[in-house]
Amino acid sequence: MSARAADPACSKRVLIFDTTLRDGEQSPGATLNADEKLTIARALARLGTDIIEAGFPFASPGDFAAVNRIAEQVGTATGPTICGLARATKQDIKAAGEALAPAVHRRIHTFIATSDIHLQHKLRRSRQDVLEIVPEMVAYAKTFTNDVEFSAEDATRSDPEYLYRVLETAIAAGATTVNIPDTVGYTTPDEFGALIRGIKTHVPNIDLAIISVHGHNDLGLAVANFLAAVQNGARQLECTINGIGERAGNAALEELVMAMHVRRHFYNPFFDRPPESEEPLTNIDMREIYKTSRLVSNLTGMAVQPNKAIVGANAFAHESGIHQDGVLKNKLTYEIMDAESIGWTSNRIVLGKHSGRNAFRTRLGELGYELSETDLNKAFLRFKDLADKKKEISDWDLEAIVSDEVLQL
Ligand code: KIV
Ligand code: ZN
Repeated sequence: MSARAADPACSKRVLIFDTTLRDGEQSPGATLNADEKLTIARALARLGTDIIEAGFPFASPGDFAAVNRIAEQVGTATGPTICGLARATKQDIKAAGEALAPAVHRRIHTFIATSDIHLQHKLRRSRQDVLEIVPEMVAYAKTFTNDVEFSAEDATRSDPEYLYRVLETAIAAGATTVNIPDTVGYTTPDEFGALIRGIKTHVPNIDLAIISVHGHNDLGLAVANFLAAVQNGARQLECTINGIGERAGNAALEELVMAMHVRRHFYNPFFDRPPESEEPLTNIDMREIYKTSRLVSNLTGMAVQPNKAIVGANAFAHESGIHQDGVLKNKLTYEIMDAESIGWTSNRIVLGKHSGRNAFRTRLGELGYELSETDLNKAFLRFKDLADKKKEISDWDLEAIVSDEVLQL
């Protein structure tokens, strides 16, 4: 468990498990190199994510090296928990355990499918086989770290009675988090809420573990499903920046965090708090959201759609005259949250040929880049060169400069 997650003051918060670097990177065309992964991991740590799933170490030597480097450089005593994915096999778990070794707080996330369709057609295993594999592999993972997460892949298409037994077995073997994935984005909010409630009621040792949820957006319901799960006892949400991920993507971190923040008075009672409490529901520093979104979009090459909630270019834009008039009189007429609270900067300094290093460094910082002095010098020279040719330098220009000069994409 991370330093933040272990803090008693945070026990009534929902943990944010970011899987941008693992499930997010599984988006077609979103491959990241080791330097880019480290840059994103640092940004996720600044954002305040409790757990960073840094990759799948057995998948390739490159993934092993990237997880290992993140474990070493981001997995500090005050930093987040660094997690690695592993199928429920000894070779995968060993690779994850070794890659994660330098992290002060480290988690092995092991998974196996529990739906009949996966058992018959993919794994060619019986239900009984899985009931035997799970405790053996969870116990093996415990030899590397005390913090072990077990996922029942395709949980939402599994027989609930069987799922309860698998989860009970995983917890008895030492799993400290049990994750309920909606692997194919099939469930609906009512159904998912009922499944989490069923798990709380029918898994006898459930209080020894945190219930986590993981979900894909095939029907566009991932965030809504997670909110229903929170109302029924889920206390860890697995999500990605900008909702990137397999097929239609994963639940979007920024949407979940802002939904729970804007509607905190509604969610507070589910955390045993008085409705009027202003205590945050997550450990996320909301001011970091926008720049983290820009950074992930730039490094993965996956554009954010303009009408994307929270971070899309139009998310806080008002076009109609009626709306503009209302907002000018009082922002609350058409805005339910403050753009600045998620790090959008208004009245921005316009960068051009007269701008100095300080303004340049500040804007890069707002876009998520903390450069060394050497890299800053290289990028600044290129900026001055461009500013001689172009009146105003946009954020897109700055991102291109960093990509070419520093990250050498
Ligand atoms: O979607 C899924 O089921 C997963 C698991 C590995 C958690 O990504
Ligand atoms: Zn997934």
